[in-house]
Amino acid sequence: MMKGQIGVIGAGTMGAGIAQVAAQAGHKVVLTDNNAEQLLKAENQINTSLDKLVEKGKIAEAFAQEVKANLSYSIHLYEHQDAALVIEAIVENLTVKHELFKQLEQIVSQQCVLASNTSSLSIASIGACLQNPSRFLGIHFFNPATLMPLVEVIPGVATSAEITHSIETLITNWNKTVVVCKDTPGFIVNRVARPFYGEALRIYEEGLADFATIDWAMTQMGGFKMGPFTLMDYIGNDINYTVTETVFAAFYYDPRFKPSFTQKRHMEAGFLGRKTGRGFYDYSENAQASAANEDSQLGTYIFERIIVLLINEAADAVFMQVASPTAVDLAMTKGVNYPKGLLAWADELGPAWVLKKLENLFEEYGEDRYRPNPLLRKVVREGSKFIS
Ligand SMILES: NC(=O)c1ccc[n+]([C@@H]2O[C@H](COP(=O)([O-])OP(=O)(O)OC[C@H]3O[C@@H](n4cnc5c(N)ncnc54)[C@H](O)[C@@H]3O)[C@@H](O)[C@H]2O)c1
Repeated sequence: MMKGQIGVIGAGTMGAGIAQVAAQAGHKVVLTDNNAEQLLKAENQINTSLDKLVEKGKIAEAFAQEVKANLSYSIHLYEHQDAALVIEAIVENLTVKHELFKQLEQIVSQQCVLASNTSSLSIASIGACLQNPSRFLGIHFFNPATLMPLVEVIPGVATSAEITHSIETLITNWNKTVVVCKDTPGFIVNRVARPFYGEALRIYEEGLADFATIDWAMTQMGGFKMGPFTLMDYIGNDINYTVTETVFAAFYYDPRFKPSFTQKRHMEAGFLGRKTGRGFYDYSENAQASAANEDSQLGTYIFERIIVLLINEAADAVFMQVASPTAVDLAMTKGVNYPKGLLAWADELGPAWVLKKLENLFEEYGEDRYRPNPLLRKVVREGSKFIS
């Protein structure tokens, strides 16, 4: 498979980026979509992106030409007949994905590996429609796929270990940071990151601080590149809210993942973020920037409350065998640009200090949302660290 032909299905936000990444890694790539207009848009987008890289001196003109020549675009699924690997990035709908994979299995060779870029459906549920689900797995890129280094590789219950291993090697050779994780809701990043948004919203809802103050605390005290509200406005409140709601439902309504009314109301009002000119902040031309209350005691309280919940979630992902401690830390630094891996951060802050903070919150609120993870308790009991 190392230099075999790669197929990408769905020429939207993710598919176009994934196709470009594979073509830049030297593969012949066929990008298909059932919408011809969308294909043309993707072709223009990829060409523009390559031209910009040349302009900025990041790649040579000859290389850009090579990459363009590696790519072909088609509305016909049968163009994937020679593929060694096909990655699906179409609409997030199980029935539509099933229809596609059933057709695709008739077209590709027996050896061809099949993958989905799904964010929220289980790999087991998509693969169940295949005659041979052992060659099917999740390959989850982050947006924008050309820039974000992380890729989560997710074997389903039916996936063969050999296929998982060969895909891990292949995607690593595409210059990506690969983490292998269990087929559980949100995989690593979309699960572990939930408190960054959820606890920030909760602090706001309790009236403890406004959006600007919470963002200030997380950037100044925590060193995060963006505060939670600025980031939610970037992602879009519709998308971010839907991820939270999906993860919440998939975890059988575990209160740790409870969505927020504040975000839901912003979504319902059409305050989606930058894309609509207004989200938690106003992006119109004459809008006044909101001033943060730069009270260091309040800032410290906000940062500590959010960081201990993030650490607790990272510990839970390890405790429940979703991924190794190193993989969880890599996922958060390479997938969402956290300034440090959460478990290394816990080691630095002191696991006993983190546990105490969580116990205090749990005692104050009496809510399961704050229950300390058993792995954190074990690390404290043994006087050990998360990352050795
Ligand atoms: N957008 C993100 O940030 C993001 C990040 C990671 C993963 N994902 C996942 O990637 C997948 C695609 O998401 P997106 O944001 O790129 O979507 P998108 O809406 O931008 O693109 C989807 C594309 O698929 C095409 N399509 C739909 N049905 C098709 C079919 N039956 N056959 C061929 N083409 C079809 C559409 O024409 C469209 O061009 C989803 O599974 C999503 O969960 C999205």
